[in-house]
Amino acid sequence: MPNAFKLDLTQRPRRLRRTPALRALVEETVLRPADFIAPLFVVEGRAAPEEIKSMPGVFRLGITDLVKECRALHKLGIHGVALFPKLDTKLKDDEGTQALNEDTLVLRAVRAVKKAVPELAVITDVALDPYTTHGHDGVLNPARDDVENDRTVGMLCQMAVLQARAGVDLVAPSDMMDGRVGAIRKALDTAGHTGTGILAYAVKYNSAYYGPFRDAVGSAQAEGTRLLSKATYQMNPANRREAVLEATLDTLEGADIIMVKPAGPYLDIIRDVCGATRKPVAAYQVSGEYAQLHAAARLGWLDLARTRHESLLAIKRAGAGIILTYFAKDIARELRR
Ligand code: PBG
Repeated sequence: MPNAFKLDLTQRPRRLRRTPALRALVEETVLRPADFIAPLFVVEGRAAPEEIKSMPGVFRLGITDLVKECRALHKLGIHGVALFPKLDTKLKDDEGTQALNEDTLVLRAVRAVKKAVPELAVITDVALDPYTTHGHDGVLNPARDDVENDRTVGMLCQMAVLQARAGVDLVAPSDMMDGRVGAIRKALDTAGHTGTGILAYAVKYNSAYYGPFRDAVGSAQAEGTRLLSKATYQMNPANRREAVLEATLDTLEGADIIMVKPAGPYLDIIRDVCGATRKPVAAYQVSGEYAQLHAAARLGWLDLARTRHESLLAIKRAGAGIILTYFAKDIARELRR
């Protein structure tokens, strides 16, 4: 018996999905290479790039290779790089002293990149975790049971000024201390760096998705200490209203860009933050988000290219106009085709 079932429908959304041309015409979100910032890991020396085990395709680069990579990214239409140093363990101490060394690895890297590719926006993290033996983003209080807020902020201000002097376009406090954005703004201005911007990790969660990054920079935990918890400064993943508070505070303190991190599991937060600030909103697709797509693809369970694209599209659709992602180069290449 022929199926003669008929609906008397006025609204048929499928009309606009009928052909590729119609689908393209009604497409709301489009990715472009300029949306992305590539996080890059830098190490001392000239050894060949070493791949980070839990981040396939991501390498720790010596300064020479780092400069090459920056040129390649720039050619692909990427406008920004965020540099993260991996320090020799010998250089780390309790107080993160190396962070205030004018010739520390990341500052030499900044100068080299700025000299070779001046058009590229260079961003550096302002936080002590690559420099401390305990891996915390700040210095510990006398009881050694928590990170001391104000003393840490004092160090972060000095760090930011050194980074500005080395030529960065944006300093990126990723430490989540209270009041650091305002203090850094004041320190930069006092030192004459009124043009150096602040990309604030305003809404940074105490997330399990940072695992591979901590391997990459070696901040996971010092030998023999308990597992590193950053719960006294990074936000509780259960909280949504608090994200609006943090975004508002950093906006008022003078941040130029407000960032949410991680990205994919926090799309509701990106959306809320877009409503809370009129500053540009960025999101960081973190190491664990990258690792999980690669892991599933290796098992043959997900299609890497398609999930990569979809994961980034979702972050942009939620409202982030800037996306930090380890997929930056891959997606820029794909978009060029
Ligand atoms: C630390 C910092 C972290 C990341 C960027 N800066 C990790 C942490 O808070 O321990 C994470 C990035 C990623 O997972 O890709 N200041």
